Amino acid sequence: MDFKFEIANAVAKAANIDVNEVFDAIEIPPDADLGDFSFPCFKLAKNLKKAPPVIAAELMDGINDLDFVRRIAQTGAYLNFFIKRDAYAKAVLAKINLEGKNFGRSDIGGGGTIVIDYSHPNMAKPFHVGHLRSTVIGHALYNIFNALGYRSFSINYLGDWGTQFGKVIAAYEKWGNEDDVKKGGIRELNRLYVKFHEEVDNGDKALDDVARAWHNKMEAGDEYAMRLWQWIKDISMEEYAKIYDLLGISFDSYQGESYYNDKMEPVVQELKDSGILKQDKGAWLVDLERFKMPPCLVLRSDGGTLYATRDITSALHRKSEYDFVKALYVTSHEQSLHFAQFFKVVELMGYDWAATQLLHVPFGYMNLPQGKMSTRKGNVLLMEDLLEQTFEKITEIIDKKNPNLADKENVAKQVGIGAIIFNDLYNSRIKDVEFSWERMLSFEGETGPYVQYTHARCCSVLGKATIGFDDADLSLLTSDEEFALIKILSTFPERIEEAAQKYEPFIISRFAMQCAQAFNKFYHENPILKADEDLQEARLYLTDCTKTVIAAALKLIGIAAPQEM
Ligand code: ARG
Repeated sequence: MDFKFEIANAVAKAANIDVNEVFDAIEIPPDADLGDFSFPCFKLAKNLKKAPPVIAAELMDGINDLDFVRRIAQTGAYLNFFIKRDAYAKAVLAKINLEGKNFGRSDIGGGGTIVIDYSHPNMAKPFHVGHLRSTVIGHALYNIFNALGYRSFSINYLGDWGTQFGKVIAAYEKWGNEDDVKKGGIRELNRLYVKFHEEVDNGDKALDDVARAWHNKMEAGDEYAMRLWQWIKDISMEEYAKIYDLLGISFDSYQGESYYNDKMEPVVQELKDSGILKQDKGAWLVDLERFKMPPCLVLRSDGGTLYATRDITSALHRKSEYDFVKALYVTSHEQSLHFAQFFKVVELMGYDWAATQLLHVPFGYMNLPQGKMSTRKGNVLLMEDLLEQTFEKITEIIDKKNPNLADKENVAKQVGIGAIIFNDLYNSRIKDVEFSWERMLSFEGETGPYVQYTHARCCSVLGKATIGFDDADLSLLTSDEEFALIKILSTFPERIEEAAQKYEPFIISRFAMQCAQAFNKFYHENPILKADEDLQEARLYLTDCTKTVIAAALKLIGIAAPQEM
């Protein structure tokens, strides 16, 4: 039985309003003295033309007895419900136990396809922590939508075309050589890219023309240019593969920008036919002044295509290929204008779905101690270095805390990656992330390792138990800490839905943190293995449910839950 739903139902009847509206409005007060579920009456005030406290009092009188409710109270504008703890413990935990790993999942998505465009690093440039944000957020959304019965489809839209290739090839031809690139890989390619920009900044403007000429050669299919292009792409992909491997991420499609080279022409023609494309000083663009945006450039005056040209084409292609209900694009907010522009162009072409189904999911910067990163300036913390340093630091911590841990290397990786991902997903994605080793790696703060450690603690308690707990009497779980923990566990299904609705993985991270904190409080105040047999069984049962839910929440955001650490 879903207590919150039952309460919503009762309130809806008494107030004569929609039950879903009530359900969404019901809160769980942070202070249990104020009730276990609380319905705020502010919103009703306008319609009913009465003060919220008056409405709350009247509603209270109109609600019939609910057999799992101990007491209903009105406090100011709130109608507060106090639940019978024993009934609640039984209902929630039996459900978690029954559903196990599937607790929280549903099929509200009805199999609709959600295409998620994320990670998308740019060839010849290093995979930096900015791409990490896209990867981690996109991957979490992928899992979250799958959990709700959607069919997620991940696309790594590789930046494998465009003027940056012209720049790298120009720089390679001028200052590079094959051996150095073979040895240095992407670092050497990046060195060349950085040097290119330095020279341009120092006044060598002709270089830009050389780069453009290389790019044009690529567009014309020039054999030598294409061979260099493929070579640079292969080297880059090899290094990205190492990172995806470590993160345990793969993609359903790697169709990058270059995939659309031979697919743009008919789309450009369609744009011309539709009459929305205008010629301006030799270039072709879509005027967007009516929508208070600068024009969207579709063809350069030299006939070259642009980032937007490929994105318009890929959106149409994806729609016909995958028939998505939503297509998400996970990038930094720097690209917000680009997405708003090309979404509008697709809509103006007559594709109405663009207005509701194409969605930019922006995020803030990752701030390193030395300031904002820029590949152009070479001020990047390479992903590889970051991962390596994290593993080293975590191994040091584990060596101190648990020197005899089996499979130390693997656990250090899981915990290191947990620390990085959790740090990235702990706040609303639009907020900048401050990168700090101390904060991120602490086993005590609000961190990934803390949550993982709590999960391992659950495993350790269960491992030490000498009695079974399948038939535990769950009505014994009525202490404040037990009840608080159970209440939090019960909200997992709603949290997943909320995370999907808002495209916000941090809702799951926060949930995992709340579970961990509530479990630790319970663990410190309520002895488990030293309790009498009946109580011990019930507490083991609760511990087992907590373990299941924490592991499931971590999994949704791409973090492993080691048994021991
Ligand atoms: N590769 C681009 C970048 O790193 C992001 C691509 C985003 N996806 C898209 N369909 N435009 O900036």
